[in-house]
Amino acid sequence: MIFAENLTRTYGEYKALRGVTCTILPGEFVAIMGESGSGKTTFLNLLGGLDRADSGKLVVSGEEPMKYNASELAAYRRRNVAMIFQDFSLLPTLTVLENVVLPILLRGQKADQKEALQMLERVGLADKANRLPETLSGGEMQRAAVARALLLSPKVLLADEPTGSLDRRNGREALALLREVNQTFGLTVVMVTHSQLAAQAADRTLFMADGQLSAQPE
Ligand SMILES: Nc1ncnc2c1ncn2[C@@H]1O[C@H](COP(=O)(O)OP(=O)(O)OP(=O)(O)O)[C@@H](O)[C@H]1O
Ligand SMILES: [Mg+2]
Repeated sequence: MIFAENLTRTYGEYKALRGVTCTILPGEFVAIMGESGSGKTTFLNLLGGLDRADSGKLVVSGEEPMKYNASELAAYRRRNVAMIFQDFSLLPTLTVLENVVLPILLRGQKADQKEALQMLERVGLADKANRLPETLSGGEMQRAAVARALLLSPKVLLADEPTGSLDRRNGREALALLREVNQTFGLTVVMVTHSQLAAQAADRTLFMADGQLSAQPE
């Protein structure tokens, strides 16, 4: 469950978020659309604990990240969220499998190669586990990024334009995969997208305009 009330975030003089309020239920798949610069990524970063709001209230999986100091916030991120991005953020010198287990190693935990391979199997990439990312298609790279996110067993999956650099077919496949993990793991998914087609994969779409979220487009 995500509950946001009147969240604001100001950069210098500029109000990127001017009172964002919304409730997202556990297991919901929500799309956020809106013009460039409207505050979508800023909001996603607050949910992910990468940044902190200036005022308002935010509850994610029963936790209030705004009350946390830097190290508590880092622990909050590890416990609750995984993020995937438009550029996939795979490290070029590591194999697909190594990329998938890296966040686990960075947490200071032991990586379970078998579990990682099972996750790659789930997303249809088991046969490419030992390849370097540059030898994958865009769609395959995004599937590797999804496998990496899922291995963290997050409560919330945050996706910032996950289909932004994919063609139609790969975009559709990436969305189907997000839908599938949303349903099979009961994972809450919040996806920022510019694509109407992508938003249709979600249960519901929220619209960001001028730093405020609403249920209807402007
Ligand atoms: N670190 C920062 N410092 C100053 N201004 C920022 C910073 N981050 C974001 N902004 C500003 O806040 C506003 C909202 O940015 P944000 O990245 O949330 O937009 P967005 O809706 O994700 O846009 P896009 O669709 O282009 O990704 C923009 O005007 C941006 O320039
Ligand atoms: Mg953005």
